[in-house]
Amino acid sequence: MTLHVSGLSAARSGRTILHPTSLEIELGARIGLVGASGSGKSTLGHALVDELRTQGRSVAHVPQSPDEALDPLRSMAFHWQEAEKALGLHTGTADQPMLFEALKIAGGDLKKRPWGWSRGMQQRFVIAMALIGSPDLIVLDEPTSALDPVVAAATMDLLDRHLQDRDTAMMLITHDLGLAARRVSTLMVMQDGEIVERASTQDILERPQTSAAQSLSAHRNWMALPC
Ligand SMILES: Nc1ncnc2c1ncn2[C@@H]1O[C@H](COP(=O)(O)OP(=O)(O)O)[C@@H](O)[C@H]1O
Ligand SMILES: [Mg+2]
Repeated sequence: MTLHVSGLSAARSGRTILHPTSLEIELGARIGLVGASGSGKSTLGHALVDELRTQGRSVAHVPQSPDEALDPLRSMAFHWQEAEKALGLHTGTADQPMLFEALKIAGGDLKKRPWGWSRGMQQRFVIAMALIGSPDLIVLDEPTSALDPVVAAATMDLLDRHLQDRDTAMMLITHDLGLAARRVSTLMVMQDGEIVERASTQDILERPQTSAAQSLSAHRNWMALPC
């Protein structure tokens, strides 16, 4: 099964921030969406998630900020149950202890509201919520930006293991080409609200064609970082 979207676009204050964009995402694909800050990655991520959900697809979304995913008036336990329901699981059937252990949030009090958890813990909680089922697609927007490099690498390893036996496709949104280089097989490069280059990760690393890809490639820190 392939996911199709076409004509995704967005404008804010009279300015086009996402030009009409069409995507096809194959079953089990591992795609990176990269580009400089402000190039429109998060906007495309939101538009993609909204459109696929409208089509009735199941999509897990880890937004760039946990504030976008967590309601300050609801307990963490409530959020967890809602995530289970949304991903078609019965309450209490997700392997919460394993996920919390792996993401190092086992000490978090589920009776508390989001503001009772640190920001980094909230972000890992949102990642855990995305890893409890087998949706058609998981979109992760800068998922490791608030995590230290060791926890970030462990989190990405957990994601890899989770995806291994599933048909779930994954879109990793990041400004860090080094992170994407290790985790995805295809890259899409954004600049000024449009995708300007799509190719295999290897091709973009070795032969970037556009100025956007060239500048990301020139500034990549993929030799230095563990994740
Ligand atoms: N709600 C908004 N109102 C006005 N401008 C916005 C809004 N959201 C995003 N933008 C602008 O749209 C552009 C793309 O933003 P975004 O998708 O967040 O980029 P990225 O995720 O690549 O950093 C940026 O120039 C940003 O300032
Ligand atoms: Mg963003």
